[in-house]
Amino acid sequence: MPTVLTILGTRPEIIKLSPVIPLLDQQFDHILVHSGQHYSYEVDAIFFEELDLPAPAYTLGVGSASHGEQTARILARLEPILLERRPDAVLVQGDTNTTMAGALCAAKLGIPLAHLEAGGRSFNRAMPEEQNRIIVDHIADLLLAADTIAADNLRREGLAEERIRVIGSTAIDAAQRHQARAAQASILEQLELRPGSYLALTVHRAENTMPDILPGMLRAINELAEEHTIVFPIHPRTDAAMQRQGLALSPRVRVCRPLGYLDTLRLVGAARALLTDSGGLQEEAAVLGTPLLIVRNETEWRYLVDAGVAVLIGNSYASILAGAREWLAPPALERLRAAPAPVRAGAAERAVAALADLVSTRRVA
Ligand code: UD1
Repeated sequence: MPTVLTILGTRPEIIKLSPVIPLLDQQFDHILVHSGQHYSYEVDAIFFEELDLPAPAYTLGVGSASHGEQTARILARLEPILLERRPDAVLVQGDTNTTMAGALCAAKLGIPLAHLEAGGRSFNRAMPEEQNRIIVDHIADLLLAADTIAADNLRREGLAEERIRVIGSTAIDAAQRHQARAAQASILEQLELRPGSYLALTVHRAENTMPDILPGMLRAINELAEEHTIVFPIHPRTDAAMQRQGLALSPRVRVCRPLGYLDTLRLVGAARALLTDSGGLQEEAAVLGTPLLIVRNETEWRYLVDAGVAVLIGNSYASILAGAREWLAPPALERLRAAPAPVRAGAAERAVAALADLVSTRRVA
């Protein structure tokens, strides 16, 4: 049986690989490696429990560090494992430092590399995630793109057609599969919220936690909290940035710890709207039919904006307030809610079939 090694390390990778891992376990001698980039229970272990995933065979324990240090630790700790196990292919997902380091390590050893979520572009090269995406796509042998926009981005960068497959998004598979279980989650009762009575909010992107953006963003949120109930599960990065910058939220904002997957789906699914800068949550909101206001100037999931289920409202004080007031008003909000979401199931199966092709052609070659 051919061997495939998957490396993951952060919350979004765990969620988006969750429908793929059981299929890999069935079809391959599958080795799961966790970089340890995320390590707190609430952004890591809880997802293994809720999504019923097997424990990784190796944990690299890299933890938090600067980008260079974190990447270097993954490279140094993964290389001996790849040398010893010699997988027929390596799979990475997304755009994190774990994705980039895992990809680089495999490519340098000449191991066939597959990238899930290839071709996503914000066209903002200052984002660490954008740098990671570009590097990984250019060294991967199999580019598993979520949609035709992503595939066109790859073609425009000169990447060979035979490497590209449009397979859909595994975040959508995961959300659809867990929607029914999420309906039983108790988060609304715990927070004493009625469905439809509140806005859900998340912010964690590096650029949004910088001192030139975060203060204005929080000021806008504090003002919106005068008009709306806002529930804000706070990411560790944002929490730390607020403390460093001496920023506070109005007591009217309902702040809570990062939530598990099922609670997140329940909270977002019952929200009047979601305001977020998260990539994964944008697709989850689409599956759940929740109007989506993206607090960024660009998105990798442009197909959701094109479909009319999401709008970009920017990340400045003025643009957030103006965008929220425009889009949370009833006719505009109803238009967002009524637009049919372009969600397509089966990405995990298509990803694993493409990976099997990659492995069989490389083995014959
Ligand atoms: C990373 C990814 C991002 C992804 C996000 C999801 C990169 C460049 N970015 O960003 O694409 O959307 O994960 O969460 O890889 N921390 C903890 N506990 C943890 C992990 C982190 O407290 O388990 C804190 C640490 O203070 C750390 C900070 O969060 O310095 C940021 O963590 P890091 O992994 O560097 O980046 P994220 O912002 O989580």
